[in-house]
Parts: sequence; structure tokens; C-alpha cells
Amino acid sequence: MSTIPETKLAAVCDDNFKCSIKSLPVVRKLGPSQILVKVVSAAGNPTDWKHVAYKMAGINSVIGCDLSGIVVEVGSEVAQNSSFKVGDHVFSMVHGCSRAFPNNGAFAEYAVLDSNLTFKHPKGLKLNGENVPGGPITTFEGASSINVGLLTAGLAIGFEMFRKIPTEKVNSPLLIWGGATSFGQCAIQLAKIFNVFSEIIVVASSKHESHLKSLGADKLFDYNDENVIQNIKSYTNNKLAYIIDGVANHQTVVQCNAIASDTLPVHIIELTFLNENDVPENERKSNVKFTITFLYWAGGYDVDMGIAKLPARPEIREFLISFVKYIQPYVIDGTIKHIPVTLVPGGLNKVSELLDDIQNGKNSGEKYVINVVDKI
Ligand SMILES: NC(=O)c1ccc[n+]([C@@H]2O[C@H](COP(=O)([O-])OP(=O)(O)OC[C@H]3O[C@@H](n4cnc5c(N)ncnc54)[C@H](OP(=O)(O)O)[C@@H]3O)[C@@H](O)[C@H]2O)c1
Repeated sequence: MSTIPETKLAAVCDDNFKCSIKSLPVVRKLGPSQILVKVVSAAGNPTDWKHVAYKMAGINSVIGCDLSGIVVEVGSEVAQNSSFKVGDHVFSMVHGCSRAFPNNGAFAEYAVLDSNLTFKHPKGLKLNGENVPGGPITTFEGASSINVGLLTAGLAIGFEMFRKIPTEKVNSPLLIWGGATSFGQCAIQLAKIFNVFSEIIVVASSKHESHLKSLGADKLFDYNDENVIQNIKSYTNNKLAYIIDGVANHQTVVQCNAIASDTLPVHIIELTFLNENDVPENERKSNVKFTITFLYWAGGYDVDMGIAKLPARPEIREFLISFVKYIQPYVIDGTIKHIPVTLVPGGLNKVSELLDDIQNGKNSGEKYVINVVDKI
């Protein structure tokens, strides 16, 4: 392992709210449970372009939340409990574009990870250097693609629906609107592992049907079908009570409300700032409860997103720490499969293009990933 440099190249949100490449210091003063990694691969998420376009980002904050890399330094507590050591191959999420911690993001040569929220691959990862079909995590590219989706799936299904890793059957289906999203592909697999729902129903394009069924979906409805709402309502007998809006836009919030049972208590989890107020007043249902949730609460501190200030929710951090311990064996033994990876050649210089493509909805059932290095 080469020595750690004083500075790193990073794709940042500049003062014009554009993505540019800057040189920033490599932070060496680690907190007790932190680890410093040399980033190998980093994956794009919708939140990256949203932070830039909606001016939620800190100025000159490093963009990107999903990464894999190699440990180069560990904090005092990590050194003591030997949970991670220099040279380990790891993957995790960070709050890219953060106003509070602008130096830290995935699209950079180095990043600081929270060891409590980090996966380690004991057999090591290889750098593939090209697209990777969905499957068990064996490559840095695949490993970079899983973190935000999987932790958000844990947060939405585990914490928000049950306040714990669920163990008791609910005798009711779960519907994930957006089965082919990064989040959706993780949520299907997690729901299958939890095994508490009577059925896993997804809404996605039909072209993804065989792939999503291979992950554990039981039934697919195509969102391009003009009768999609009526079809779901009739299939579920107007009894749908567990819904996650894994697309989370102004159309899907209304659609998720429409497919919800008209009589039973219903819980809809929303992944952006959307709730019943975004549903036309005459369509709102008194039996439907919306919950907005954010992975940014994983840090355990207040989150300033500019347009909103989210007070800390330490109980979410606690849950996610226990969730990482719970799910790690499934991630390592290949039960959890990463989403198909499309490698965007060109490294950090291509982050701006990658964000534009995600914003324009170009990615279809796949994750866009860049390699920060050419070899390890
Ligand atoms: N709150 C949080 O902490 C959190 C965490 C992660 C994500 N999110 C949010 O969750 C949403 C999904 O993120 P992601 O990264 O998982 O998405 P993604 O992978 O970028 O989503 C792309 C997929 O969405 C599908 N899609 C687009 N419109 C759809 C619709 N109306 N119905 C069903 N599927 C549709 C596309 O289908 P086709 O293949 O047919 O084009 C495509 O496969 C975003 O709004 C994101 O900001 C929030």
C-alpha cells in the first residue's frame, strides 16, 4: 500500500452548483470508530444530482454516497477491537454533498467511513474494469452499488414498518412501487429474507419481470399499463396495507395512495419529501399514514439540507448499526445480490455526465458506477 497523500482529487458541487474536480485535503484526524479508505469504485444515486440541482449541497462539498475501497487507516477504537484493519476491502455509504462534512463524499480518491455502517468482504474484492451483471458481491464495482439501496431498504421495511428486524408474519402483501430501482432491487431481496409478508408485489416495467422474480418478487404490475391502479386494487382485493414508494415522485405518491386499501390502516413509506399533502385533497384517505424517511439519519446527527433541517434521530442510527450486523452474512454469502452495474469509463472526470444521465432517467434497472482507480 502506497503512502497516504496530503491531498485528494474529488468531484465537488462548486459555488455555481455545478460538478467540478477539485483538490482537497485528505482528512487524517479520524474519529475513534472511523476508517479512512482509498476509494476504488463509486456509484451514483438520484440524491447526488438532487443535492446539486436543488442547491441542498454544501459549497465545494464532495458528491456521492455509495462506495467501495481499501482501508488505509483506522480510528483508535477500530484499532483496539480489530473490526477493520489496513488492507481490508470494504463498502459503505457516506452523506455526499453534506453541508456539515463537505470534505467527505464517494466521488473522491479518499473517503472517511463509519466502521459501524461498513461491510467488509473477508475474501477480498476484485476490480472488474467493465460492466458487472447483477449477482453476488465479488467486485469493487458491485460492492459500491449496494450500500445506499440496501441500508435504505433496511430502514424502510425494518425500522419504519416494524421498528425492528421483523420476525412475525403479517399475513399481508408488501408492495414496492419501483421494483427495478436500486432501492427496489434491495428491498425485494430483504423482504424475501425477512419472510413476514404473504407476497412481494412490485411495480416496474415488464422487461424487468424475470430479473425481479429471480430476486424474490412474486407478482409484477407494469407502471406503463394505463390500468395499473385498477389492476392492483382488484388483485389485492382493496386490502393493500404495506406500501413503499421506491420511486417517490409527484405521480407515484398519488398512485401509492390510490392503490392503498380504502378501509384498513395503511402505512406508505416515502423516500423523499412527499406525503398526503401531495395527494389531491379529494383523494386523501383518513386510514392512510405516510412516513417520510431518510438514510441521512444514519449519522446520528442533525442534517442540514438547506431546504430542510432534519433533527437527529439516534434511534435510526442504532437500528442501522444492528441492521448492518444482521445483514452482513447475507451480503457476504451471496444471498444478497447487487444490482447490474454499468461502468461509466473515465473515472472522476465523468461524474458530471453520470449525474446528468441519472437525472434524465437513463439508468434502467442498473447502477452507474465509476472506477476512481484503474488498478489496485
Ligand atoms: N430517503 C432515502 O434515504 C433514499 C435513499 C435512496 C433513494 N431514495 C429515493 O428513492 C428513489 C429511487 O432511488 P433509486 O436510486 O433506487 O432509483 P434508480 O435506481 O435511479 O431508479 C431507476 C429506475 O426507476 C424506474 N422507474 C422510473 N419511474 C418509475 C415509475 N413511475 N414506476 C416504477 N418504476 C419507475 C426506472 O424504470 P425503467 O427501467 O422502466 O426505466 C428505472 O429502472 C429516488 O427518488 C431517490 O431519491 C431515497
